[in-house]
Amino acid sequence: MRSHYCGHVDRKLIDSEVSVAGWVHRRRDHGGVIFVDLRDREGLLQVVFDPEEVPADVFAEAERLRGEYVIAVEGRVRHRPEGTVNPKMPTGEVELVAGRLTVLNRSLTPPFHHDEPASEELRLRYRYLDLRREEMQRNLRLRHAVTRALRAFLDDAGFVDVETPLLTKTTPEGARDYLVPSRTHPGSFFALPQSPQLLKQILMMSGLDRYYQIVKCFRDEDLRAERQPEFTQLDVETSFMDESEIMALMEELIRQTFSRVMNVELPSPFPRLTYAEAMLRYGSDKPDLRNPLELVEVADLFRGVDFKVFAGPANDPGSRVAALRLPGGGSLTRKEIDDYTAFVARYGAKGLAYIKVNDRAAGREGLQSPILKFLPDAAIEAALERVGAETGDVVFFGADKDKVVSDSLGALRDALGRDRGLTAEGWQPLWVVEFPMFERDDKGRLGPLHHPFTAPRDVTPEELRAEPEKAMSRAYDMVLNGHEVGGGSVRIHTQAMQSAVFDVLGISEEEAQAKFGFLLTALDYGCPPHGGIAFGLDRLVMLMAGTDSIRDVIAFPKTQTASCLMTGAPSPADPDQLKEVGIRLRTGAAQG
Ligand code: AMO
Ligand code: AMP
Repeated sequence: MRSHYCGHVDRKLIDSEVSVAGWVHRRRDHGGVIFVDLRDREGLLQVVFDPEEVPADVFAEAERLRGEYVIAVEGRVRHRPEGTVNPKMPTGEVELVAGRLTVLNRSLTPPFHHDEPASEELRLRYRYLDLRREEMQRNLRLRHAVTRALRAFLDDAGFVDVETPLLTKTTPEGARDYLVPSRTHPGSFFALPQSPQLLKQILMMSGLDRYYQIVKCFRDEDLRAERQPEFTQLDVETSFMDESEIMALMEELIRQTFSRVMNVELPSPFPRLTYAEAMLRYGSDKPDLRNPLELVEVADLFRGVDFKVFAGPANDPGSRVAALRLPGGGSLTRKEIDDYTAFVARYGAKGLAYIKVNDRAAGREGLQSPILKFLPDAAIEAALERVGAETGDVVFFGADKDKVVSDSLGALRDALGRDRGLTAEGWQPLWVVEFPMFERDDKGRLGPLHHPFTAPRDVTPEELRAEPEKAMSRAYDMVLNGHEVGGGSVRIHTQAMQSAVFDVLGISEEEAQAKFGFLLTALDYGCPPHGGIAFGLDRLVMLMAGTDSIRDVIAFPKTQTASCLMTGAPSPADPDQLKEVGIRLRTGAAQG
């Protein structure tokens, strides 16, 4: 049916007969001559229907062509006439003079045109049309290039690709499970894996030594631009390697992938930052190091002041007072500052104190701020000195619980970097290391900072039980341009330590046996020391593609409310199907 892709027809083919097939991208009538931009996977080709050159019935058929009709054309390639060459198109020097035309299929008028922005709702509903767009084709092919490069590296490094089941037991990664009812065991459910965490550990216990899998994971959680309920990990596990060996190998994997796919050379080694330092300086455990702004701790300067907003947190061990200097920020308008104040409120901040430095040499007179009147000269001067304030700057302050200040000023740092054009182009990978094992949630309960299978550093099970909040973990996160692209750890490989962690997390022995009994047993049959990592493939490709939503690099993504607009999933189940799996819906729940 076809001798060449549209996008491959170039000057080398001038005077040859070719046959091409694809979609009508655009049709134009020019003084009796019809021009069709014909599109296929490889690009566009201009096809000319000239009434002087084609039989009348072919020309008449060409007149009836509409956008997205599927056609095959045979003809002769010629150089475009003088003045009509389009240097921006790979096929812009040539055109195809049509001799024969076959309409393979018609199309209704599409709800949106390729070149015009469409709402995401329309794009997802008519995903097949959206995926025809060049950008989406490029993204999907980039994704394929990335998985090829990742596989090539891991295959060469002796990793074995092993599939793990999707119908399985719960694997806690901090989200809700997607459940699948069992017909053969009424009242029992499989859980779709939040990750293959436990099974890849079992593979290490099985002696596989090096495992990887490009694998779907399922998490029923609140969705954002970089989260999907169903997403893909590059999942890796190794035996007999410590964290520094694993990190060295995994950053080489990412370096080689960027080099092969993007021609980008990432630094070697990646810089490392401790969790504590990342929170202190950037208010985030996934800082974008392309942004030069930094938080500066100033609690010690405000302990003795009367201004309760600062003095309270300054004297409370679980709180902090931090400053963020924006060079040249004195030009921010009142409205802009109000908008940033509303922005940080979303992260729980009760206000956004600021000092504008109109003239640094003029002392208090040179400053402009709603909080000046509450503060003594010495504290103001010391704070300005510490952040390195200069004439023309604004200095923002956050005072509250650690989490509120870090979250709000960390987000403000990102926003200012973006809004003021301070965040540079390029690539800034890093490792964040030395995480605490546990953190307290809003209700004061201890939870794992990573997952409960992460090994603690340098403690016995008894010490961990006695002082869990002091324990540091052997976890590491890979961060790229402000996104967590991967996370992993050295794992617990003894039953005693695993039981201690369950204990600290308030998981009773019965619950631990019911959920993870198989793991606890396996740990007692010669488990090697092991550790690994999982990369968020969608996020990695999103960054490489230069988009800001992982939906742009997933062929059939779900919406923010976890539904598929194209297929209409999820949908009510047939009452007979429900009966078979022993489920009766509560009154009030939607019935099919
Ligand atoms: P973690 O939960 O950190 O670790 O996940 C690893 C990486 O997967 C990506 N990711 C997601 N991407 C899209 N949508 C989501 N909902 C989503 N959730 C996570 C992130 C993240 O860094 N079993 C451990 C790994 C290990 O310890 O080896 C795990 O799953 O990029
Ligand atoms: P108030 O005394 O509440 O009127 O606040 C005085 C100034 O301090 C205002 O500019 C507020 O935006 C700011 N502010 C109030 N609470 C905080 C806080 N927790 N952190 C930083 N600034 C705050």
